[in-house]
Amino acid sequence: MIHASTVLVITSSVRARRIGLDIAKWVAEIGRGVLARRIEVVDLKDWPLPMDDEPGVPAAHGYAFAHTSAWSAKVSQADAFVFVTPQYNWGYPAPLKNALDHLYKEWSGKPAMIVSYGSRGGDKCARQLRQVLKGLHMKPVATMPGFRLSKDSIKANSGVIDPERALAKHRKELRRGFAALDAALRGGRFTPWLRWPW
Ligand SMILES: Cc1cc2nc3c(=O)[nH]c(=O)nc-3n(C[C@H](O)[C@H](O)[C@H](O)COP(=O)(O)O)c2cc1C
Repeated sequence: MIHASTVLVITSSVRARRIGLDIAKWVAEIGRGVLARRIEVVDLKDWPLPMDDEPGVPAAHGYAFAHTSAWSAKVSQADAFVFVTPQYNWGYPAPLKNALDHLYKEWSGKPAMIVSYGSRGGDKCARQLRQVLKGLHMKPVATMPGFRLSKDSIKANSGVIDPERALAKHRKELRRGFAALDAALRGGRFTPWLRWPW
């Protein structure tokens, strides 16, 4: 098994009463049991990038702002990603799209797994995100775990979840997804997309 590569588990919910960070931490912990790689949780709340503030097109130009350069360095040092995202009105949260759109080549060519959650597992937002990742020339693995939340817990909006209890039934699929990510990392050469993308 190859060591020394880094997988970022990026959580996309920044709501005050979110459960996303706890879910991302649980996902990372399961990942550590499958991959002999460094796995780090990245909370987009710690990366408050202003909405679409870069004057240039990220695929073609350099960055004007220090926060974008810092985000670029963070993403560049990773070899693969796990996007942990809730479904909001059939889509994924705006902070994730903004974080993706601030960069381009830093994502390009790298494998990713999408983990969604919602009352039916968030498959609609997962499919939208998959399409966007392909637009960034990433390599999303086929396994896309979708965690089903109970309607009662959504209505309660407590900001609290015990993933070990609430999400246990998804553990197997999640481990399968991490194994697929591992295979993608072992098999694929990192080939960034350097041509004009569109
Ligand atoms: C703005 C908003 C829109 C939502 N839309 C959906 C939806 O389309 N489908 C769904 O299953 N749940 C939906 N929910 C419920 C979320 O799945 C649930 O609130 C979940 O806890 C959100 O993740 P978070 O707590 O990490 O932000 C929505 C919640 C919010 C706040």
